[in-house]
Amino acid sequence: MAEVVIVGSPEDAGTLVAAEIVRLVGRDPQAVLGLATGSTPLPVYRALRKQAAGVDLSGVRGFALDEYVGIAPEHPESYASVIRREVVEPLGLDPELVHVPDGDPERIAVSGGEYERAIEAAGGVDLQILGIGTDGHLGFNEPGSSFASRTRVKTLTAQTRRDNARFFPSLDDVPRHCITQGLGTILRARHLVLLAFGAGKAAAVAGAVEGPLTASLPASAIQLHPHATVVVDEEAASQLRMAEYYRYAWENKPAGQGL
Ligand code: F6R
Repeated sequence: MAEVVIVGSPEDAGTLVAAEIVRLVGRDPQAVLGLATGSTPLPVYRALRKQAAGVDLSGVRGFALDEYVGIAPEHPESYASVIRREVVEPLGLDPELVHVPDGDPERIAVSGGEYERAIEAAGGVDLQILGIGTDGHLGFNEPGSSFASRTRVKTLTAQTRRDNARFFPSLDDVPRHCITQGLGTILRARHLVLLAFGAGKAAAVAGAVEGPLTASLPASAIQLHPHATVVVDEEAASQLRMAEYYRYAWENKPAGQGL
C-alpha cells in the first residue's frame, strides 16, 4: 500500500517532497527526476528553489511526464515551456539534461519509442513526481489506459480539457491530444510521489489509494508499486476511509527514514 502523508497545506507538501529530492541529489548528483506539470507540483518546485540554494543541481536529469500534441514547444502552455519556466530556469538545471516528450504530430509515430529509450538510457527515473486528474488520470493516462502502456498518444477526456481550460484563452484552445508516459513507464520509476490538493481531488485520491485496482481509475496503478508515497492536504484526504491510520503511521514512523 502507498504511504499516505496528510499535510496542513500545499506549502507543507512542497517542503516535505523538496527535502526528499535534496536528500536524493545529495546521494546522487546525477539523479533522474520525473517531472509533472500542472498546478499541483508547483509548491515542490518553489520549495526546492529555497532548499537547494547552495546545492549544485546542474547534474540532475529530468523527464517530463507528458506534452500536448498540436501546440508548438514555444507556446507558453506547452509543457516544454512550463518545465523550462517553472523547473529548469529557477532551479538552474542543465536544459540539455531535461527532456519533454515530442508532441510534434509529424513525429508522433516514433517519438514515444524514442522517449522510452531515453529514459532507459538514463538508467530509469529515481523519483517521479505525480499529480492526479479529477477523473483519476495519471500523467495523461485517461480512464481505460492499460497498466502496461508506454509513452504514446492519448486523447484527452472532455473533463481534462475543461479542467485545463484555465491555462488557455478558451476551451477551444485546449489541445485534444497529448503524448504521455504510459502507466507501465511510470510504474518503472523507483519512487512515486503523488501529490493532490483540494476537495476536487478527494474522490480520485480515495479511488487511487483505497479503491479497486482498475484501468477505469488509472491512478490506482500506484497500488502495484512497492514504493509509492501520496502527499495530500486535508481536503484531498477527506474521502480516505483509513485517514486515521495514515496519520498514526506517519506520526510513528521511525526517524530518519525520509519518504
Ligand atoms: C501533468 C500531468 C497531469 C496533472 C493532473 C493534475 O504533467 O501529468 O496528470 O498532474 O492533470 O493537474 P493539476 O495539478 O493542474 O491539478
